[in-house]
Amino acid sequence: MKKNQIIAVLSFLLVLTSTVVTAQTYAKNGMVVSSSKIASEVGRDILKKGGNAIDASVATAFALAVTLPAAGNIGGGGFIVYLDSSGSATTIDFREKAPLKASSDMFLDASGNLPKGIDLRGRESTINHIGLKSVGVPGTVAGLYLAHQKYGKLPWKELVQPAIDLASTGFELSYALYQTALSIEKKSNIPFLKDYFKNEKGEIVGFGELWQQPELANTLIAIRDRGRDGFYKGKVAKEIADFMKENGGIISKKDLQKYEAVERKPIEGSYKDYTIYSMPPPSSGGVALVEMMNLMELANLDSIPFNSTAYTHLLAEVMRRAYADRAEHMGDTDFNLNSPIKKLTSKEFAKSRFNNIDMSHASISDSTAFGQLYDGESTTHFSVVDKDRNAVSLTYTLEHSYGSGMGSPKLGFIFNNEMGDFNPIPNKTTTRGLIGTKPNLIEPEKRMLSSMTPTIVAQNGKPYLVIGSPGGRTIINTVFQTTLNVLGYNMPIKKAIEAMKIHHQWLPDRVVYEYDLLSPDTRRTMEQMGHKMVPVRNLGVLMGILIDTENNVLIGASDSSSADGGAKGH
Ligand code: GLY
Repeated sequence: MKKNQIIAVLSFLLVLTSTVVTAQTYAKNGMVVSSSKIASEVGRDILKKGGNAIDASVATAFALAVTLPAAGNIGGGGFIVYLDSSGSATTIDFREKAPLKASSDMFLDASGNLPKGIDLRGRESTINHIGLKSVGVPGTVAGLYLAHQKYGKLPWKELVQPAIDLASTGFELSYALYQTALSIEKKSNIPFLKDYFKNEKGEIVGFGELWQQPELANTLIAIRDRGRDGFYKGKVAKEIADFMKENGGIISKKDLQKYEAVERKPIEGSYKDYTIYSMPPPSSGGVALVEMMNLMELANLDSIPFNSTAYTHLLAEVMRRAYADRAEHMGDTDFNLNSPIKKLTSKEFAKSRFNNIDMSHASISDSTAFGQLYDGESTTHFSVVDKDRNAVSLTYTLEHSYGSGMGSPKLGFIFNNEMGDFNPIPNKTTTRGLIGTKPNLIEPEKRMLSSMTPTIVAQNGKPYLVIGSPGGRTIINTVFQTTLNVLGYNMPIKKAIEAMKIHHQWLPDRVVYEYDLLSPDTRRTMEQMGHKMVPVRNLGVLMGILIDTENNVLIGASDSSSADGGAKGH
């Protein structure tokens, strides 16, 4: 073969590969898009059996607890936003809670400082994210159970069984998981996590080999047979409480018995003719998303081309303002009864916020007037639509990837480190992004503030876009930009997900941007306007479904930054 023929073949292969990578998935009767193709298939099969979107979500969530242990979980918590085919929207809050023995200064030393320690990857981190005291009372099982009791159709047992099968029979370890297993083995000082990917011979399961998790299968069997009581009462609860007591944790049997998931009214907003439903507190996601979409509705996007300097600057300023409001006001509303949510999500307030944006200069984030630091990828999101056009947007998390990294070897699942999402030092807010405001200080049984933003956009009362992302505080911004890309810039869902993203969170005062996708000229002009620009490879791992309502077709897309993710249609 001549050189130019080889080049032609290589270019063809490249085009073919990128076509595969960027493909959207189309289906008529239902779809699940998650960060694990195996879990998406589990959900899709439930839809095929006649299950609805809630049934498929319950089955997908349990499957992810087996196939995506970094964030799929039964030891953490999260949120469901549900819009049914009649146009009725609701949410289920299964965020973790602070244990009864928790207190606002529980992580501080005698001088009132927040000490540092070594995290599960061998890196330095503040201690509110380390060890068993960082574990919040898990909510996932209660949340999935409540969602199923209220809105599910198929028997509970049929929804948990696929996860039990995956854990007991095993599934082929992906290359991405294999690499994580090697890295954990090398860097972690937590015995439970070091053993997590090992087989009975004590060796790390190889790439493509079957990975079995018999202890996790047994825990899931208790949940299958006894519902939420299989986790919060009986043998599993006793083992959690005993493990905590023996190893310095503070979660007790009483904490587990008292835990309840809660159904809450969604945050509702609008952008042009679209209605936006998203998560209320204890997430800050819905409020900040609606505030930012309200501000963007005031901009004339025809004169602000996507990815231009004006676009990047405006977005950064909109984000700065919403995150400042988030830092000042947001926390669990069961404890902060006077939270100004109505005001923050109103069109009037958006006008006052929009009017002081200077399109030629960066504003200043003032920590004394009124962000946590940018946190990396963690958490996982999936989107589901069924044949009747009921839609579920579900984001759940262990906080950091692999949470606390700790767990009882008898139970086989990982505990979260969600206590790190509370404001750790009362009254201390710093330019580095530490927040000390009252609404999110630790109190017994309070839920820590979240940024998870599971969202459903409706058109004429019917689901139109189902979207969400992992990523810590970046979540709100990546969901915001993807939503704006679809609703404001008319992008196809896949393009909207892959398009350039930035992140500004008020403090630290900097614009984090995807360096492959923002032009060097824009970066330079942004710097001249006073922005500190910080490059990052990737922001967000979005999983979305767009509904072509004219032709009644579902269009699914998973972010190419998810190695094992995928959309599965029926
Ligand atoms: N743990 C991520 C969040 O709740 O925002």
